[in-house]
Amino acid sequence: MIETRFTQLLEASAPIQLAAMPGVSTPSLVSAVAAAGGVGMLPAPLMSAEALASSLDELRERTSGAFGVNFLIPFLDLECVTVAARKSRLVEFFYGDPDPQLVEHVHSLGARVSWQVGSLAEAIAAERAGCDLVVAQGTEAGGHVRGQTSLLPLLSEILGAVQVPVVAAGGIATARDLAAVLASGASGARIGTRFVAAAESGAHPSYVKALIDASAPDTCLTEAFSVMWPNAPHRVLRSSIAAAEELPEGVIGEIRLGGKAVPVQRFSVICPTTETVGNIEAMALYAGESVTNVRRVQPAQSIVSELISDAEDALNRAAV
Ligand SMILES: Cc1cc2nc3c(=O)[nH]c(=O)nc-3n(C[C@H](O)[C@H](O)[C@H](O)COP(=O)(O)O)c2cc1C
Repeated sequence: MIETRFTQLLEASAPIQLAAMPGVSTPSLVSAVAAAGGVGMLPAPLMSAEALASSLDELRERTSGAFGVNFLIPFLDLECVTVAARKSRLVEFFYGDPDPQLVEHVHSLGARVSWQVGSLAEAIAAERAGCDLVVAQGTEAGGHVRGQTSLLPLLSEILGAVQVPVVAAGGIATARDLAAVLASGASGARIGTRFVAAAESGAHPSYVKALIDASAPDTCLTEAFSVMWPNAPHRVLRSSIAAAEELPEGVIGEIRLGGKAVPVQRFSVICPTTETVGNIEAMALYAGESVTNVRRVQPAQSIVSELISDAEDALNRAAV
């Protein structure tokens, strides 16, 4: 057990937050992380309020652990925010200016609020807007990247400026990494890429294999996968850009979303899942620099328990 302000706030037992990853953070993965003592985050984009409500009811039946819902500001659906605030412990926002009215709305329905930020100014704005915690995302992170500073300098400046608990995100995959950010003063770690290779993940097996075979220099920050979400930098495997560049413009595959087949355009933001067919290698293969430490597929529970027990040892050693 590593108790922090993050675990206390959300009544969790492990200072680990699963990153919300559309198509990857399935209800099975969210509930497995929550059952293991971490905080599972369900992604909400492109979901109806009814579908979100039934997913959250199903999650509550599967686990008594901590879970929340993540919203991307450019795709915000207020009806879904209301459902999430009523039916989960944590409502979280990313990729937009912290909004006091939105925070107040969630608080009035009983949930805690978090904002994932990429700069000191955004962290201060999130605290002023009333957020209960902030997630400091460094540029090492996989998926969409908000700021321009790598994790440790960003974390230090944010920890020096805000009073609310701070969760560190970007490049964290091992117990050593977790111990390092906790020793720096973070209250938890938000982990994405390593959980893409969890047994319960919804990622396409070829995407998972590409992560296992890759290391940090194989990733890059780009704006290449911009169809549906332009001007938003993201970190992917470089190989996916090269593979997409070789293909003609147009549809390169198909994904099932809410029971419907949806075409995947070349350079679409959609990453390949078990429900995707087509040219998987040329789709957005999001990966953080943490990919270096993604070595095999493991159940989420064993990822969480390995991180916690080895981080405790690392922290004890650091104290000597
Ligand atoms: C496949 C993938 C999808 C992501 N989608 C989202 C998202 O929808 N919302 C969000 O807040 N963050 C998203 N992120 C970013 C994560 O929240 C987090 O900052 C990042 O995963 C941390 O870096 P790591 O991948 O090295 O662990 C995504 C990350 C990945 C890898």
